[in-house]
Amino acid sequence: MCGIVGYIGTRDAYPVLIKGLKRLEYRGYDSAGVALLNGDTTIYKKKGKVSELEDYVRGKETKSTIGMGHTRWATHGEPNDVNAHPHQSEKGLFTIIHNGIIENYSVLKKTLMDQGMKFYSETDTEVLANLIEYIYTSEDVSVEVAISLALQKVVGAFGLVAISSEDPNLMIAARRSSPLVIGLGNNEYFIASDATPIVEYTDRVIYLNNDDIALIRRDELILKNLVSETTKVNIKTLEMSISEMEKQGYEHFMLKEIFEQPRSIMDTFRGRIQTETNEIRLGGLLDVKDQLVNAKRIVVIACGTSWHAGLVGEYLIEDLARIPVEVEYASEFRYRNPMIGPDDVVLAISQSGETADTLAAIQLAREAGALVLGICNVAGSSISRETHAGVYTHAGIEIGVASTKSFTAQVTVLTMMAIMIGKEKGLLSEQRFSQLIKELYAVPAKIEKILELNDEFKRIAEIYKDASNALYLGRGVSFPVALEGALKLKEISYIHAEGYPAAEMKHGPIALIDANMPVVFIATMDGSYDKIVNNIQEVKARNGEVIAIVTEGDTIIREMADHVIEIPKSDESLVSLTAVVPLQLIAYHIALMRGCNVDQPRNLAKSVTVE
Ligand code: M6R
Repeated sequence: MCGIVGYIGTRDAYPVLIKGLKRLEYRGYDSAGVALLNGDTTIYKKKGKVSELEDYVRGKETKSTIGMGHTRWATHGEPNDVNAHPHQSEKGLFTIIHNGIIENYSVLKKTLMDQGMKFYSETDTEVLANLIEYIYTSEDVSVEVAISLALQKVVGAFGLVAISSEDPNLMIAARRSSPLVIGLGNNEYFIASDATPIVEYTDRVIYLNNDDIALIRRDELILKNLVSETTKVNIKTLEMSISEMEKQGYEHFMLKEIFEQPRSIMDTFRGRIQTETNEIRLGGLLDVKDQLVNAKRIVVIACGTSWHAGLVGEYLIEDLARIPVEVEYASEFRYRNPMIGPDDVVLAISQSGETADTLAAIQLAREAGALVLGICNVAGSSISRETHAGVYTHAGIEIGVASTKSFTAQVTVLTMMAIMIGKEKGLLSEQRFSQLIKELYAVPAKIEKILELNDEFKRIAEIYKDASNALYLGRGVSFPVALEGALKLKEISYIHAEGYPAAEMKHGPIALIDANMPVVFIATMDGSYDKIVNNIQEVKARNGEVIAIVTEGDTIIREMADHVIEIPKSDESLVSLTAVVPLQLIAYHIALMRGCNVDQPRNLAKSVTVE
């Protein structure tokens, strides 16, 4: 995904845009640019980080009260100055920034080239800019109509902001499948792909719906659909603070977010567990509770870390609520012919609420008549609006590209759902219910204790920082933790890492084991403890290096493993919430020691809003 920011008002636009781009940089960071309209349009753009753009612009003319900026995650065309946004139409009449993909761009480009238009970049966005200009000049229509007509010809996704020297007091924003939010100030408007650049100016916002076009002048905002009918403006209040978006003394957002987990987990269950009545109350699910409790099957759809949380959910829901669960990669689900119908409950899990594959899978499930629920972190996001009902994780904004606190918040919600359904179905005795609740309440303090071991994680990281490969193994609910540990390591340190069910090791990965292979075991005391002890011995017998996450007081594994990390004892169902924390921190320290950009790993973006 990329970041979009726009401003129209009475203040200097450039500082607003640069500050906004810095806030949005987690969404994409291979190039950045701004366009400033002051009679003519001036464009500055550069490959690299927003700070490089800022250096480039320093000392140049930036006077303007209308402008827009973009930070890019490349889809069409490599990251370079030319492909960076904004893009201008051939005659310079229109300038646009765009998130998403114009799927029919090559057909449109050919048509425009046949008309003699020239292109300078490899992007789909320049095609759109030229299409708008072509319609504007050949059909003699207004700026607004040219943009609507062009967007009607587009197949694909767009979050678009456009300005035109032909109507220099107008800014146009339009969306299909790629989010845009507009902040309402006093004779000024802020446009952005998420609310982070807006929050310090206003808490009054409008989330654009699909095929909305906003016509924005300093003193008015008109919302229309693509066929120019006026639509209703629905103003919401932002619940976000500026301090949430800052590092607050931590070296990186990822580190801050790891350390925030005791609080984010607590915020996620607080107010939802009624200890007086022994009840779990998930407000967002009240209307669909019966259908959920009586579901014959739950299908989880998600990607990446959220998919790992879904696997933990499968374990919990099948164990505590006895409903069969299937966990699907959203990207696979949407492209086969899944057997989904009105009897199914589909549960979409997403931190950002904007992941394109998850959104498409939701659409498919809705069309098939399933009840579609969501677990989402970003309020007002597309997934939270496209699902029939759902539960927010209250993790707070997550800026580090590697998901950390969103995973534990998602697992917290899934735990509450499983316990709630199990209780409603009469499967959990009062005593087991109270015990699980007590365990859940105890998780934040246990994580605090684990965080105190940070120096130990650093020491282990120092030993393994030069490894080329790593294996993560766990059984039962610890298997998804192994997957998540491996994902954390590979995405931020670029060390190849695999997660496996520990018993599967003998079916292939064991061939990889030698003295250079760190093998991380999640080996807490649970039903398969003896089995995992055997697996550790099998690795040691082949000279593998074992790092084991064990339950406090474990003496058996201490004898065999090269390093043990003791975590407080918890109920087997909840162990993923604590066991994942050392893995997050070890990955963090290794990445840092290897000189990697922890918060903005190469080639990645916070959320994948294109397929
Ligand atoms: O926003 P989402 O939860 O839908 O994102 C899904 C994945 O892209 C995401 O979890 C990704 O795998 C993480 N960056 C991994 O740390």
